[in-house]
Amino acid sequence: MSTTASTITTHTVTVHTEGDRHKIEVEPGITLRQALRRHGLSPHNAVTDVANCGGRGHCGLCAVEVLEGVPPPTQTLDGTLHSMGIGRLSCLITVDRDMAVRL
Ligand code: FES
Repeated sequence: MSTTASTITTHTVTVHTEGDRHKIEVEPGITLRQALRRHGLSPHNAVTDVANCGGRGHCGLCAVEVLEGVPPPTQTLDGTLHSMGIGRLSCLITVDRDMAVRL
């Protein structure tokens, strides 16, 4: 987390990818999916990058593995995928704290 004059300006999202780790600074309030894409990372593969619901929480194709800091799911599909151990929908996670995920 970065601060300026006691005001939180960004949150740190640690993103583990195949053989690498990225620390990205994210402005509060955007979704994790938006943050990943803005930093050249993506929860999607080549096919699902073009065939997805656009971040509406309907397709289930933006799942990431949560490592720490992500609040519990509040939406049905997100909760179902989480309970099945598949991951969390990055389009339904608002970055409001530091967190760590794996793509
Ligand atoms: S992009 Fe479709 S559920 Fe997240």
